[in-house]
Amino acid sequence: MIGSEGFKFKVMLTLLENESVDKLQSNIRQLAEAKNAVILAHYYQRPEVQDIADFVGDSLELSRKASQTNASIILFCGVRFMCETAKIVNPTKKVLHPNPESGCPMADMVSAKDVLKLKEQYPDAAVVSYVNTTAEVKAVSDVCVTSANAIKVIKKLPQKRIIFVPDQALGSWVQKHLPEKEFIMWKGFCPPHYEFTAKEVLKLKEKHKDAKVAVHPECHPSVIELADFVGSTSQIISYATSCEANKVIVITEVGLKHTLIKKNPNKEYIFPEPMNYCGSVYCCTMKGITLQNMYKTISQEINEVTLPEDIIERASKPLMRMLELSS
Ligand code: 13P
Ligand code: SF4
Repeated sequence: MIGSEGFKFKVMLTLLENESVDKLQSNIRQLAEAKNAVILAHYYQRPEVQDIADFVGDSLELSRKASQTNASIILFCGVRFMCETAKIVNPTKKVLHPNPESGCPMADMVSAKDVLKLKEQYPDAAVVSYVNTTAEVKAVSDVCVTSANAIKVIKKLPQKRIIFVPDQALGSWVQKHLPEKEFIMWKGFCPPHYEFTAKEVLKLKEKHKDAKVAVHPECHPSVIELADFVGSTSQIISYATSCEANKVIVITEVGLKHTLIKKNPNKEYIFPEPMNYCGSVYCCTMKGITLQNMYKTISQEINEVTLPEDIIERASKPLMRMLELSS
């Protein structure tokens, strides 16, 4: 609980912050134009960051944009694996990450060494890595997938056996759709999504009986079972903004709410409460990107993402294969 003094202080701070928000935003935009930089942002970014991006998208769309851009600099507002992907698919560009500390805990749950061990154990299997992996893991993979294309890409693979890393939730959702394949599943997970329980979803359904339920496939299988729709962030946006229901319960990171409201303000989007970010699906590392660190990064051209050349060369193959197989 914060007392009334504390509350007043918080309001003052918010006013001050708001005043500088516009200024920071326009300074960043000016710098981006002057330096021929493109700003790419994931849907889980803070609203004020999304608002000044040239493009906001899901992991697949962002990797496509990064591979196609003519800009000299990519200021990437997302987590580390996304910045690495941008560098791998467009290595001549300068990729800047406003907060090098912002990683994805799930991506760090599997190493290249773990994958090589599995490959030795199952030599006939295809190694499929979720794009939420380190560049080193991608470098020892046969193909990458995102939540938007995993079913489509894996279905096209000639191998029956699939080593799937690192997300067990996405993996088991895909497995359900492809019973002809045999999965060797790594037991990684996304903490914000996987820890959200079916009990909480049932409570929301009880409270909003007329609502449809849209769920990200990084959620626990018991949550996915309760969904009317399962898909990537972009796919959830298309579904939620165009389905017949006026209310949609959305089980994914709260950052998505900003785009949903922008795209279709006439609907109600219910995210896990409370919205003070405790108990909701909230990714702390995505929120580690701020206007302040964006400004510092673009103005000084610091926090450049660098990778060894051989890693770029090897990791680009599974990423390019993904882009081909999913188009
Ligand atoms: P998508 O935007 O591809 O659905 O991914 C969600 C995510 O967790 C990215 O880290
Ligand atoms: Fe990683 Fe989950 Fe955050 Fe996405 S939401 S960056 S998978 S921790």
